[in-house]
Amino acid sequence: MSNHDYTDLIRKAFQAREKAYAPYSGFMVGAALLTREGEVYLGCNVENAAYSPTNCAERTAFFKAVSEGKRQFSAVAVVGGMKGTAQGDFAYVFPCGVCRQVMAEFCGGDFEIITAKSLEEYKTYALSELLPEAFGPEIQI
Ligand code: THU
Repeated sequence: MSNHDYTDLIRKAFQAREKAYAPYSGFMVGAALLTREGEVYLGCNVENAAYSPTNCAERTAFFKAVSEGKRQFSAVAVVGGMKGTAQGDFAYVFPCGVCRQVMAEFCGGDFEIITAKSLEEYKTYALSELLPEAFGPEIQI
């Protein structure tokens, strides 16, 4: 467990969730990605009528940041729940496998993933815990 206070990052993930475009699943996700320099990039899930083009909140945040020239990250906070979920009824949401692989492209095993039910209730994992033995860029080069 990390000893950081991630309250602000979680609050931003909840704000990002409000922008989720999820008319098909109704499951709204927000992510707040913290760069090593201290900036925060927000992301939400963006669904599509053809379903498979859907982009998760975490990847939205990563692609926004990378496309702005950022490549060094320290943590991401993730929150999600069905549209209309009341405060206090959120469950922990974990990044999908594809998002974990995108994280492994840019982050080391010590990158922190925070999943939150509320500003007070959250759990922190290292990327190495959620994607052990990752296939990463350093293997190919
Ligand atoms: N989703 C995310 O955005 N992030 C996650 O960590 C889990 C899943 C989205 C994808 C889809 O729009 C909806 O949640 C239901 O799977």
